[in-house]
Amino acid sequence: MTHQPDFDTLGEFLISARSLAEYRAIFALTDADPSARILDCPCGTASFTTEASELGATVIAADPIYAQPAERLRTLARTETDRGNIWATAYLDRYRWDFYGDPQQHRQMRRAAAARFGADLTTHRDRYVAARLPSLPFPDNSFDLVLSSHLLFTYADRLDRDWGS
Ligand SMILES: C[S@@+](CC[C@H](N)C(=O)[O-])C[C@H]1O[C@@H](n2cnc3c(N)ncnc32)[C@H](O)[C@@H]1O
Repeated sequence: MTHQPDFDTLGEFLISARSLAEYRAIFALTDADPSARILDCPCGTASFTTEASELGATVIAADPIYAQPAERLRTLARTETDRGNIWATAYLDRYRWDFYGDPQQHRQMRRAAAARFGADLTTHRDRYVAARLPSLPFPDNSFDLVLSSHLLFTYADRLDRDWGS
């Protein structure tokens, strides 16, 4: 059964759970340089951090949500995955589906990423730093690569040209 949200915009910032495969497709990433220091901000509940770490990179994830307890983050990873999927399913024609295939596969991929994120919180909580753009708590030159997706342009309705200046 397809749920039809009674709103036309997604509302609050969605906390999305993308996989390394999605990040590869978005950023045209190649295999991780084992010595690379990577910052993902905002990471949301993506599994990129744990997956890229398994490939040898040193990855730090930053997002304001990490101020919350791990159990709450695990719950958010699930509920926000479903919120995003319900919305995308309801507004099917606004998306290209060639990467996911269809809404069911989209949900499966995102749920799998959310579960990996949740498991990584248990073993590597230190990778997840509570921080809020535009001011981050890292010294200059802390990272070789900074990834930032689905914040600035996705939420241009509230993060306008003057945001952060
Ligand atoms: C749509 S998710 C993007 C996550 C991931 N990068 C992706 O592409 O799926 C948006 C994230 O931005 C975070 N966020 C909202 N305001 C922020 C800010 N000022 N600084 C950093 N992250 C912020 C939210 O908590 C949320 O997790």
